[in-house]
Amino acid sequence: MFVEMQPHVGLIEAIKQRRAARAFKSDGIPEVILQEILQLGIQAPSGFNLQPWRFILVAEQANKEKLQQCAFNQRQVGEAPVVLICCGDRRVSNKENIASVIHLGEENGMMTDSYANYMRSSIPEFFTNHPSFGTMEAWTNRHTMLAVAHMMIVAKSFGVDSCPMEGFVSTQVKEAFQIPEAVDVCCLLALGYADEPLKQYGGRFPIDQVCFHESYGESFKLS
Ligand SMILES: Cc1cc2nc3c(=O)[nH]c(=O)nc-3n(C[C@H](O)[C@H](O)[C@H](O)COP(=O)(O)O)c2cc1C
Repeated sequence: MFVEMQPHVGLIEAIKQRRAARAFKSDGIPEVILQEILQLGIQAPSGFNLQPWRFILVAEQANKEKLQQCAFNQRQVGEAPVVLICCGDRRVSNKENIASVIHLGEENGMMTDSYANYMRSSIPEFFTNHPSFGTMEAWTNRHTMLAVAHMMIVAKSFGVDSCPMEGFVSTQVKEAFQIPEAVDVCCLLALGYADEPLKQYGGRFPIDQVCFHESYGESFKLS
């Protein structure tokens, strides 16, 4: 089967048209498109390039139903052709992963000895003091959600709808899908083709309500 790989809509339209779909058709997502959604999703940035995101692709009906049971029976989980269990692995700060990231940088011609040494010394210190996050779960979620955001926009650009979900019981998902203790479940992401009734745009607050100028609470202006 020939699959059109050009995005259906450009970036701006993909962002504007994306809605959190609540109902899905049974149509499957072509493998090449799914591959592209995953491949572009994991181009997201991460602290020290540690890439803590991990994704379990759930497509078998029995497994989707098992997941649905852990997700307050939300219909999207049972209906969407694919649901990703989006996780973050707290173990990526270990020496082995740091070495892998350094190796990857070398393969891509960007790693210098001084930067590799900086990574070897700074990363353990950063995770001991963690000045910018309270818990490791906050850190893994911070990163995993960025990859998820990339995926939702890429998906929409190929005409694929999505629904990110926090409505699930983490302990149940972990047990049902053999997720290690050191791995956090960040969210579920249903992917497929939205069905009627299509979700309507709920609006967004204006930027001057959510952005500030120079310090928190100060009226926003661009110049
Ligand atoms: C982190 C997160 C968790 C969410 N959890 C759920 C969920 O469990 N079930 C659901 O139907 N929608 C969920 N949503 C979708 C939101 O309800 C939706 O994004 C919001 O109403 C705005 O609508 P829009 O995305 O269509 O613009 C979630 C969205 C985010 C970002």
